[in-house]
Parts: sequence; C-alpha cells; structure tokens
Amino acid sequence: MSTPAHFDVIILGAGASGLYCAMHAAMRGLRVAIIDHADKPGRKVRVSGGGKCNFTNLDVTPANYLCANPHFVKSALARHSPWDVITFFTEHGVTFEEREHGQLFTLKGAGHLAGILVDRCHKLGVDMLLGRTIEAVDGPGPFRVNTGGEIFKADALVIALGGPSWPQVGATDLGFRLAGQFGLPLVRPKPGLVPLVFARDERELCESLAGNALDVTIECNGARFTDALLFTHKGISGPATLQISSHWREGDPVIIDFLPRMSVADLVEANRTSTMQLRTLLSQELPKRLPSAILSESLAATEVSQLSKRQIEVAANRVHRFSVTPASTEGYAKAEVTVGGVDTSCISSKTFACTTVPGLHVIGETLDVTGHLGGYNLHWAFASAVACAEGL
Ligand code: FDA
Repeated sequence: MSTPAHFDVIILGAGASGLYCAMHAAMRGLRVAIIDHADKPGRKVRVSGGGKCNFTNLDVTPANYLCANPHFVKSALARHSPWDVITFFTEHGVTFEEREHGQLFTLKGAGHLAGILVDRCHKLGVDMLLGRTIEAVDGPGPFRVNTGGEIFKADALVIALGGPSWPQVGATDLGFRLAGQFGLPLVRPKPGLVPLVFARDERELCESLAGNALDVTIECNGARFTDALLFTHKGISGPATLQISSHWREGDPVIIDFLPRMSVADLVEANRTSTMQLRTLLSQELPKRLPSAILSESLAATEVSQLSKRQIEVAANRVHRFSVTPASTEGYAKAEVTVGGVDTSCISSKTFACTTVPGLHVIGETLDVTGHLGGYNLHWAFASAVACAEGL
C-alpha cells in the first residue's frame, strides 16, 4: 500500500507519548502518521527502568511533577489514571510487580511493553515512517514535514520528540528547536534525574566513600526526599540524589541528613558512659568511613563520654545537616529526563493544543513537565498523549 501524503495528524516522535497518542488517535478513526529518525520505535522506553520499565506508579498526583505552572498537569492526570494505564497494558499481556513507593515494573521487560505499543499502532493502521531525518517542518494550513525528498502533510501536528537526555538512544533537542521556530517560549532546559558532581575540594570525601550506599533525607530549594544515596568517584548518585537533582540549580547547596531515622544526640545520650570514639559509635549506624570523612579528626577521635554539649551539636549538625554545593551534574548523557522545555503557558492543559498556532500540539517530555523518579515520567507521556488524541 502506498503511503498517502496527506494525513489528519502527523506525530513527530515514536517514543512513549508519540506511540500512545498515535494509537488513541487512530482508535478515533483518524489517519495518523508517526515520523522518527530511529529505525526502531520507543528506544528510550526499551532502556527504561533498567530494562524493566517502571511504567506507572500507584500514587500519581500533581505534586509528583515539576512545572512552572503546577496546575497544568491536573486535567490530564485526572483523565488518565494509573489504573487506566494498568488496564491497557495488562489487557495486552503485560504482567508487573509492585516495588517500593508504589512503583510498577514490568515482569516481561521494557522491550515487551514497547512492542505492545508498536503492535497496536500497526494493527490500527498508523503509518510508521521510521528512519526518516526530519529536515524541515512548516505550516499550519496544512503542516508539511520534509524528510529529505519526501513531503508529508497533515492538518494537525503533534510534537512528541522528548528531550535531549540520554542521547545514546537517539534523543535530541529537535522538539525545542521546532517549538522555537513556531514562536513557543521555552523554560530553560537542564538535565534532571541525574547524578551530581562534587567540586574538586570535596572529591576526596566522595572518593573515599565511593560505592557506599545509605538511606538519607536530602533537601534543596524546598524539595525533600528520603531514599538511598550512593557515593560515586565524582559525587553522589542513587534515587535520593536523582530526585533532588531535578530541583538543583548551579550554585545551590544540597543538605543531606545521613541519619534520618535516628538523632545523633539521642545516640550519644544512650551511650553516655562509653569510652569508644565518636567515629566508632557513629559507624555502627553509618558506612564505616563516613564519620571520619565528615567530622574533624579531633571530634571523630573524642571519646563519647568526654563529648561536650557543643561538640554534640557540631557532630549532629554535620550528620543531620551536611551541606555541599555540587559543581555540576553528570549532564544529559546520564540524565533520565530533561527538566524545563516548552512553556505550558501557551498550551491547553485539556487538549495540548498550542494556543498561538492552530493545529499544533506538544506532549510528553518536550513540555516543561518533569516527573519524580518512580514511573511518573512515562505516566505523564501516556496521560498527555491520551488528552491530546481525544482533542484532535
Ligand atoms: P521519548 O524520548 O520517549 O520519545 C521521543 C522520540 O522522538 C524518540 O523515539 C526519538 O527517537 C524521537 N526523536 C528525537 N529527536 C528526533 C529527531 N531529531 N528526529 C526524529 N525523531 C527524533 N520514566 C519512567 O516513568 N519510568 C522509568 O522506568 C524510566 N526509566 C528511564 C531510564 C532511562 C535510562 C531514561 C533515559 C529515561 C527513563 N525514564 C523513565 C524517562 C522516560 O523514558 C521519558 O520521560 C519518556 O520516554 C518520555 O516520553 P516522550 O514520548 O516524551 O519522549
């Protein structure tokens, strides 16, 4: 069958949001084409969740998202719940397990889940135009997508091109560039859910602890998470760090409580007559080398029975309010998401239509909407895709 040149809708990007949107638009009887430069659709989905794809979360609320307008996500999330996502995927053979914090992971793998989306699109007659370089886009009236010799036209255009994080699976900033071409403002993009890198002065601290993991509470710019932190040779990683990284901006300090479930003062009090060194006492609760790394040598070596009130305060402050100003993040190459993106002030939260360019829509990660770690980003990709498809 030859590909018709004119569609009701062209979706740019065959990732999570693009495939889900194509499927729902085709279910409504629309002629849909989806264009991607990758030969294989859904590449980021296939690597998600360590290959197990954390495809949604049992507890999805607007508070799980960063967006310049925190109200923007409400409508789409209310219309497509975790149970809608679960129902769709389980009806098509996905089995899953619940892990901590309500995270749902597939049992048959991320590739299986991505395959379901692709298969549904094929069965619903979506034209999958893969391995195409998008050279130029113009419109509206109609929109025209030039893929190097071939021109595809449509009355509606959906930008579902994700963000530039994890370029190793084909991610680019084309969505942002196209948005700019159509005059849409951007909230400055930056890497999110990404390890943090310490400045040279603090390298010794993380190098001595590299490989150690512990549960912490971590804070920055009013956001606060309790989860595992992992020291790396360059700085810190692990779920707690990834979460806080989305809230971190250059120059901001990050405050870490290394012992969130116990107070240093209480621990000292309970061992008040002990002759052991403070570092020995603390290392019963913390990774062995951590007390020496964050306390001065004289304080770490003081016998617990000899600690003054002031010394206990200093030790408690170092353990519970450890402040570090990361130099940078590990960048887009290691970032699970892009924070920022197309400013939602010019997008309808009901239909994802652009209010300034008739027929243009933006969904998924290209928008200035970033979920916490835990299945929230794929859930957003799906929820925004459905709302958009229903409004086409
Ligand atoms: P997505 O990136 O899925 O799709 C964009 C599409 O546009 C891609 O197919 C790409 O090839 C195409 N494209 C880009 N540039 C193009 C160009 N110039 N020309 C043509 N096509 C182009 N989230 C979650 O909820 N649970 C999880 O377990 C994980 N795990 C995870 C692991 C890793 C390693 C990463 C990098 C990310 C995650 N995420 C995640 C995040 C999640 O994968 C991400 O938020 C969604 O895939 C975003 O969906 P989109 O459809 O917006 O973009």
